[in-house]
Amino acid sequence: MDDLFSVAGKTALVTGGARGLGFTYAKALASRGAKVIICDLDEHAVAAAVAELTSYGEIKGYKANVAIEQEVIALVDKVSNELGQLDILINNAGVVQRVTTEDMTLQEWNRVMDVNLTGTFLCCKHFGVMMKRKGKGKIINVSSIAGRMGLDLRLAYCTSKAAIEHLTRTLAAEWGPDHVNINAIGPGYIKTAMNEDTRADPVRYQKMLNQLPWGRFGEPEELVGVLLFLASPASDYVTGQTIFVDGGLLTQ
Ligand SMILES: NC(=O)c1ccc[n+]([C@@H]2O[C@H](COP(=O)([O-])OP(=O)(O)OC[C@H]3O[C@@H](n4cnc5c(N)ncnc54)[C@H](O)[C@@H]3O)[C@@H](O)[C@H]2O)c1
Repeated sequence: MDDLFSVAGKTALVTGGARGLGFTYAKALASRGAKVIICDLDEHAVAAAVAELTSYGEIKGYKANVAIEQEVIALVDKVSNELGQLDILINNAGVVQRVTTEDMTLQEWNRVMDVNLTGTFLCCKHFGVMMKRKGKGKIINVSSIAGRMGLDLRLAYCTSKAAIEHLTRTLAAEWGPDHVNINAIGPGYIKTAMNEDTRADPVRYQKMLNQLPWGRFGEPEELVGVLLFLASPASDYVTGQTIFVDGGLLTQ
């Protein structure tokens, strides 16, 4: 039973791991014996996160923008040199843009798509090669309840997350014969910097709480159970799925 959910000795990359949910995923994996690399946009934020995570296990960090293909390719080299191969890829880096559709510029639309969707595609493509070569691997993409619900002011975000779910299904079919599992986590409302501004608005915050059967936002640590399931042998015959961790939000 213990081995079923074990990630000990595995190698993992968490994109956008300097803070928020990515930081929590990196901590969860490192503290259970995985060798973890995080990447993020800001060198200082990466260094600070690595300094904090070092007490939990083996961890390194690099500055990389997942939306830029050359940076992803350079990261593949670093991960290869550092870890030799990659068992677990967590495509967590993401951005949200709250704006009405009439006011959204093409640049804003493209930024959300570039990071959330293209970044996921680029990391799947370039790190997937390492996994396909090995005939084994776990890719965990990050969708959202926004991939299933239409949320106001977030046309690009919701569209990108719905596309991540379909990318997950489609790639799972393509790489099934290579025994690479591609699944997604779909967080609900989880307390991080990403939604600090909405939680600071009492009317908006209460409206969100009213939607939640559980009556509260989730804590980042509450995603760890599904993360470990998808990263470990427990999910070896599970692929193309999105598992929601949302306090029942999608039942509404
Ligand atoms: N917090 C929630 O309630 C919630 C709900 C559903 C889905 N999600 C998803 O979970 C993921 C993490 O969200 P979070 O709440 O921790 O957000 P966050 O803003 O706290 O953290 C996101 C991290 O990604 C990094 N990042 C952004 N663009 C990047 C890029 N191009 N390359 C590399 N790193 C980049 C940021 O610098 C940041 O460190 C996102 O994909 C988000 O869409 C979050």
